Amino acid sequence: MTFDTNVIEAFNENAQKYFERFKKDHQYHGWYLELGSHIENGSRVLDLGCGPGLLINHLIKQKPDCQFLGIDMSEQMIALAKKHVASTQLNAQLSAEFRVMNAMDINDISGYFDVICNAFLIPYLPPKDSFQIIEHSCKKLKPNGLLFLTWIVLPSLEREKSVSSDGQHSLTMYYHPIETIQKLLERYGLKTLFMNQQVEPTSQKTEVCLIAQN
Ligand SMILES: C[S@@+](CC[C@H](N)C(=O)[O-])C[C@H]1O[C@@H](n2cnc3c(N)ncnc32)[C@H](O)[C@@H]1O
Repeated sequence: MTFDTNVIEAFNENAQKYFERFKKDHQYHGWYLELGSHIENGSRVLDLGCGPGLLINHLIKQKPDCQFLGIDMSEQMIALAKKHVASTQLNAQLSAEFRVMNAMDINDISGYFDVICNAFLIPYLPPKDSFQIIEHSCKKLKPNGLLFLTWIVLPSLEREKSVSSDGQHSLTMYYHPIETIQKLLERYGLKTLFMNQQVEPTSQKTEVCLIAQN
């Protein structure tokens, strides 16, 4: 696979900061609620590049009888996800599992899913890898299954080298155009149920949320 080798190192080192920054941030809650409103009770939900489990932690409260699996290549992110979700589910039977795993290996996970989430993973993957993950996700969906995708667009730029705030890591960010993603989903027979864009307050970049159905 061709991802920037620093990506996982950077997320491992900055996992705690990422968690602190976003755990009380409500900027994506509207999108999470929208997704939750389309999820049937008892669904099997996969979150690719789950980070510290923010999305699963939100959905598990909205849909406590669903079965959640979060995967991420960063061990630190997975450790935080396990702790975070367990701490908010003390009295409930845990229905969330987290694994250190490359999202490119999605086909190694057995069975099919009612919902596959991919929240801010593809900005860190070159087009070839992003498209492959999306293709495999579409094929892993059950009939009427949902795909939840969030990513960053910048019409004037396809990619950009950015340096982490501590200056330790240089990451390539990829800005996949909306039309490209939509055409890909159409090719695999998915229909758009919901699409929304918002400007991220810190970076001023446009973020897109798309929910599509098989
Ligand atoms: C910006 S974070 C998003 C985390 C989470 N989805 C969220 O919305 O808060 C991107 C995540 O993707 C993970 N990641 C990057 N490349 C990956 C890959 N090939 N497979 C699995 N996880 C990956 C990183 O470790 C990081 O946790």
